[in-house]
Amino acid sequence: MHDVSRADYWNALYLAQDTGWDKGRCAPPIERLLAEGHVPAAGRIAVIGCGKGHEAVAAARHGFAVTAIDFAPEAIAAVAANSREAGWALSTELLDLFALPTRFPNCFDAIVEHTCLCAIDPQRRSEYVDAVAAALKPRGVLLGLFYAHHKPAGPPFAITESEVRSSFTSRFEFARLRVAPDSFDHRQGLELEFIARRRDFEPRPS
Ligand SMILES: C[S@@+](CC[C@H](N)C(=O)[O-])C[C@H]1O[C@@H](n2cnc3c(N)ncnc32)[C@H](O)[C@@H]1O
Repeated sequence: MHDVSRADYWNALYLAQDTGWDKGRCAPPIERLLAEGHVPAAGRIAVIGCGKGHEAVAAARHGFAVTAIDFAPEAIAAVAANSREAGWALSTELLDLFALPTRFPNCFDAIVEHTCLCAIDPQRRSEYVDAVAAALKPRGVLLGLFYAHHKPAGPPFAITESEVRSSFTSRFEFARLRVAPDSFDHRQGLELEFIARRRDFEPRPS
């Protein structure tokens, strides 16, 4: 398996322009989620594994205070250039998302996920859940899309709806988890759209 936990693996893909995941614009379900009012007006949003930043620029255009986070320097250079060109200001951060708890503890009203979880080693999913939970404010919202394609290997590493529930339930409550109705054509039926709120209490015993 490629060492997807290393920034230089991803950076080399950007340098080689081998970025087939990049559709050149914000994914339609994310654009819609940003407009639906799940995040307080002008709230603070992190876009993790932001790549060239189409979702980050869209969030800035929706009026949010955006921090675009990626550990590949080429991605961070691209999002900075794209936001300048689009005329929407945002902050960039060259950071491994597993360092979110120390760099951004309890900081964000929301975190946007788009083709980031599918880029990390599946063995590190519980670490991912803890990292994003720790970077959210109490009752903060994780929203976006999980990739639920049916191929065995990765990246992108697929996740199923039941794996999403079992991986996230200890730290998040799902307000929505469904197949996105408006994915890019070639991802139709393969993306799970979700809105999940950080739990700040232990689930009641049943
Ligand atoms: C498949 S790309 C998707 C990029 C972007 N979300 C998009 O849809 O265009 C995955 C991105 O996640 C970044 N990434 C992977 N693991 C990361 C980590 N541990 N910390 C920060 N960024 C990471 C990669 O550098 C890459 O830019």
